[in-house]
Amino acid sequence: MSAPKKLYVKTYGCQMNVYDSERMAEALGSEGYEQVATPEEADMILLNTCHIREKAAEKVYSELGRFKPLREAKPDLKIGVAGCVAQAEGEEIMRRQPMVDLVVGPQTYHRLPAMARAVEGGGKALDTDFPEEDKFLHLPKARKPKRGPTAFLTVQEGCDKFCAFCVVPYTRGAEVSRPAERLLREARDLVERGVREVTLLGQNVNAYHGEGPDGEWGLARLIREMALIDGLDRIRFTTSHPNDMEDDLIAAHGDCEKLMPYLHLPVQSGSDRILKAMNRKHTAEAYIRLIDRIRAARPDLLLSGDFIVGFPGETDEDFEATMDLVRRVGYGQAYSFKYSARPGTPAAEKPPVDPAIADARLQRLQALLTEQQRAAQDAMVGREVDVLFEKAGRLEGQLVGKSEHLHAVHVQAPAHLKGEIARVRIVESQPNSLSGDLIDA
Ligand code: 5AD
Ligand code: SF4
Repeated sequence: MSAPKKLYVKTYGCQMNVYDSERMAEALGSEGYEQVATPEEADMILLNTCHIREKAAEKVYSELGRFKPLREAKPDLKIGVAGCVAQAEGEEIMRRQPMVDLVVGPQTYHRLPAMARAVEGGGKALDTDFPEEDKFLHLPKARKPKRGPTAFLTVQEGCDKFCAFCVVPYTRGAEVSRPAERLLREARDLVERGVREVTLLGQNVNAYHGEGPDGEWGLARLIREMALIDGLDRIRFTTSHPNDMEDDLIAAHGDCEKLMPYLHLPVQSGSDRILKAMNRKHTAEAYIRLIDRIRAARPDLLLSGDFIVGFPGETDEDFEATMDLVRRVGYGQAYSFKYSARPGTPAAEKPPVDPAIADARLQRLQALLTEQQRAAQDAMVGREVDVLFEKAGRLEGQLVGKSEHLHAVHVQAPAHLKGEIARVRIVESQPNSLSGDLIDA
């Protein structure tokens, strides 16, 4: 057998991309590629790009420029661009950066092996279709190497919501749910390979409506069936839209033990005027009522969210409404962004907010969110929690894992507990993590 070819994958953006990168590496594995840690070692470099914020395409072009010396030193080096920038830019990438051999959009990764063969033969390969077939189903079956205790599983892709600021409906396309039985099979397979916790992924994951053996399944049904898998101990899902939080999913937060008490439910703004301009199709009050219902089902739920400040037309009063909403809801974790115009989206046509004002608002919002996050973390001190240990910590004899509330927890613990869930008493809260002691060790 010839020596393995070496593949370097660099992943930007969301967890969907992390999952996709793993699948792409597996697909190219069937073509004799093995993954390496640096671009210098590689025979093929693949950038899995993200288009959600800021000057995404420009960043990709400058990153590509940095590979120029590598390509000059190794003319056979193949360079590919995958992901949402590939989808958005298409052929333009090869025009602007002729060094690029391969451009593949997020829906066609299963065609990568053939594309890799084409570029190895000296050709170029471009595929940014939105095909009918399931890209994951057609990926070659990987050998079954052991994996860490946590894994992502993409259940749904694309989005039909068309929030006025967002490129996802354009780059990832219309919403498509994967059939339920296939996902259950994939989850069982992950468990066989050592996985204890699965995070179900989708741009709009709670809009999941996959084909099941007895009709269409929603996300709640999928979670309940997945919870029946022995050896799978924890289920999470992300990212959700408030308007798709159906009754059964809310109920599952109360009665499905394996569903973790953590929910990422972005609201983006607390001003009804801005929510309307964003095409979010709900009010601030409706969101707050929804949160009350979910918390009634699961009182210790840790809530996470996304916020955009400086959306076109946002006044001081609108921003104060966002601050009020944050104070009323209370977040244990949150992401907040300054609005950035994405070409092709409706909001990009509107006059921007003064950047200095947007910056000042972002700072105030982040200070409040950080304070809440810290308070939620500090409240864990003294409590007993279950921790799924994922890896060695920085200190000798230490393991790091995640609590049910997704807090990182450092514990002095024997190495054999890696991949296991153990009971821990939290003793200290640091800026971004907790530390604790094993109970009954
Ligand atoms: N500007 C700023 N933030 C954005 N997001 C999406 N599009 C934009 C944009 N144009 C944020 C939203 C979304 C998260 C993934 O990224 O808050 O929930
Ligand atoms: Fe983008 Fe999410 Fe809105 Fe869909 S629901 S358009 S992915 S922000």
